[in-house]
Amino acid sequence: MTLSTSPIVEDPRRFTYTLFMSATQSICIIGLGYVGLPLAHAFATAGYAVSGFDISTSRIEELSAGRDGTLELSATQLKEVNIRYSSDPAVIKDADFVILAIPTPIDDQNNPDLTPVIKASQTVGKNLKKGTIVIYESTVYPGVTEELCGKILEEQSGLVCGTDFTLAYSPERINPGDKEHTVTKIVKIVSGQDQRTLDAVAELYGSIIKAGVHRAPSIKVAEMAKAIENAQRDINIAFINEVAMLCGKIGIPTKDVLEAAGTKWNFLRFSPGLVGGHCIGVDPYYLVEKAKQLGMQTHVIAAGRGVNDGIPAYIADSIVEKLGGAKGKRVLVLGLTFKEDIPDTRNSKAQVVVKELIRRGAEVEVHDPFLAPEAIKKLGFVPGSLEQGLFDAILLLVTHTQYREMPLQSFVDATKDGGLIYDLKSILDGRKIEASGKAYLAL
Ligand SMILES: NC(=O)c1ccc[n+]([C@@H]2O[C@H](COP(=O)([O-])OP(=O)(O)OC[C@H]3O[C@@H](n4cnc5c(N)ncnc54)[C@H](O)[C@@H]3O)[C@@H](O)[C@H]2O)c1
Repeated sequence: MTLSTSPIVEDPRRFTYTLFMSATQSICIIGLGYVGLPLAHAFATAGYAVSGFDISTSRIEELSAGRDGTLELSATQLKEVNIRYSSDPAVIKDADFVILAIPTPIDDQNNPDLTPVIKASQTVGKNLKKGTIVIYESTVYPGVTEELCGKILEEQSGLVCGTDFTLAYSPERINPGDKEHTVTKIVKIVSGQDQRTLDAVAELYGSIIKAGVHRAPSIKVAEMAKAIENAQRDINIAFINEVAMLCGKIGIPTKDVLEAAGTKWNFLRFSPGLVGGHCIGVDPYYLVEKAKQLGMQTHVIAAGRGVNDGIPAYIADSIVEKLGGAKGKRVLVLGLTFKEDIPDTRNSKAQVVVKELIRRGAEVEVHDPFLAPEAIKKLGFVPGSLEQGLFDAILLLVTHTQYREMPLQSFVDATKDGGLIYDLKSILDGRKIEASGKAYLAL
């Protein structure tokens, strides 16, 4: 693939840019997870020479064998493109554009853990050639790309940032498991440390993103924009979770309240739930940290996190109260991944609910259509299934399609008379469940 950007002659760095802007473009994606792989596929489909580097040899092996464990790409999609997968960082040396899609988790104290981004930047720095544009896609707080990563790249490469190579930032906005809003259908925010880089990156992404690109005026603006998108969702869900807890105390169904309030044109439609995964439940902590660095305390952002992090314990308490105690109660949890229809269990709050119930004395078994019994055991839980009823309580925590499509009777039949069906997302018919002699509870 050749980009058409013509060199700007008055640019003192024109030699470097002229060289690579007129050559066949090659891209190396660092980190082939939920974000990196679909991106690599999109660029390869458009005809770019794409290589993918990942430190996980098992990930490289499965992709080379035509399998994607994240289920973002089908075997057919993997087969239709030619991507050079490698765990040898030497592939970075060939790239005109290096794109990092590296995890940005939090630690046990909810502080941003930038170790993976730092390590990946060191690897890129050691293998950086002159003239490369290094684009970060990971979600970070403003300043990470330029003030942290840029310096690491300079130290490791011996090159000068802004002259020998330049930095760009373009946050990923995909939604894991969402087959409708895929990478090329979402407007891409692009930013660069100078006008030339911004133009090149806008053109690069513009060539694959059907929804178009938005040019942010600076890297920090783009970093901030991404972080607040997720923080905004977190806060809205926190508000509804608090409303749900209040509805529980009052004794009215949250779903009915939201249905009534939702008839107003400007009522924002959010539903209560567990906020897990590696985006919405994590990114606000990056803003909390940035504020802390600047001597500012976040109130709304931190409060939203506090409410949402407290929901697993609240759910466990509500269930135990309804069951009249937890000791010896046989409970089946349906759904352990962090959201529906994906196999990802990282930072899954359903797991926290299970742990909270076990801590209170319940005997919990777990089923998830995306996890084999062995995988459930590996996570430290006991596998179970509806077929192994009767249970004192069945908890539908993650609404995988398989559960949505099940007849109500399957849940009812596996629950003891007088037992409880807990329907976190209110997808079951509570009145029918109660008519069958079982208790019903939702968030
Ligand atoms: N998952 C999403 O839908 C989503 C959406 C928007 C933004 N994001 C953000 O994108 C970033 C990446 O997320 P993800 O979900 O793709 O993560 P992921 O965990 O699915 O994938 C990351 C990959 O990077 C690899 N890796 C880790 N350290 C490495 C290193 N030093 N060198 C090379 N490879 C390395 C891992 O082995 C893994 O395969 C994060 O900042 C995340 O917040 C994710």
